[in-house]
Amino acid sequence: MPGKFITLEGGEGAGKTTCLMHLEKLIRQSGIDLCVTREPGGTRTGEKIREILLDRGNIDILDETELMLMFAARSQHLNELIRPALAADTWVLCDRFTDATYAYQGGGRGISQERIAELEQWVQQGLQPDLTLLLDLPVEVGLQRAGQRSTPDRFESENIAFMQRMRSTYLDIAAREPDRVKIIDSSQPLENVLLQIDHIFTDVLAE
Ligand code: TMP
Repeated sequence: MPGKFITLEGGEGAGKTTCLMHLEKLIRQSGIDLCVTREPGGTRTGEKIREILLDRGNIDILDETELMLMFAARSQHLNELIRPALAADTWVLCDRFTDATYAYQGGGRGISQERIAELEQWVQQGLQPDLTLLLDLPVEVGLQRAGQRSTPDRFESENIAFMQRMRSTYLDIAAREPDRVKIIDSSQPLENVLLQIDHIFTDVLAE
């Protein structure tokens, strides 16, 4: 079976880490070779770029600089890790990818979709995830949940209006690409959320 590229997206407090671990377990239990990675990051260079992007002390990063750093990390990630893995029939499970750029840098920061699409085309050359799970929940609920965690990073410190724009951009993408992007209602109790993932994974295996 050729390698599948699966990404996980969602706002703050959506339970992304727990869902990622659950999906990882399901895939591995099926005997599939799997590489689990994240963005920004996933490579030595990408992780250094991630540090710059998430550091709250970096108050002077311009929006366009932020956008280009996301794609710089992504370019490294695609060439060093994602494309070689898929070529070797290994599945790739990635914690966030370009939908996050449309949601955060586009919806959140207000950079135009056209500008983001130019970089996407340059860096990805048409490569898209086969499947994206979007963990969706109302922003207020997510923030309440995330509030119980440690010090917020540069993105987690953004205001609620930013988060609302980010969520609605994610939902717009899901509405435009229903075959690729599956919405998971993460306001549900955890066991229901994990069940939704089980169903989607069963469908993927049946394809
Ligand atoms: P996370 O690993 O906790 O999700 O943190 C990564 C942060 O980076 C998250 O707040 C979303 C942000 N991000 C963007 O703003 N644009 C992107 O393209 C990606 C991949 C992540």
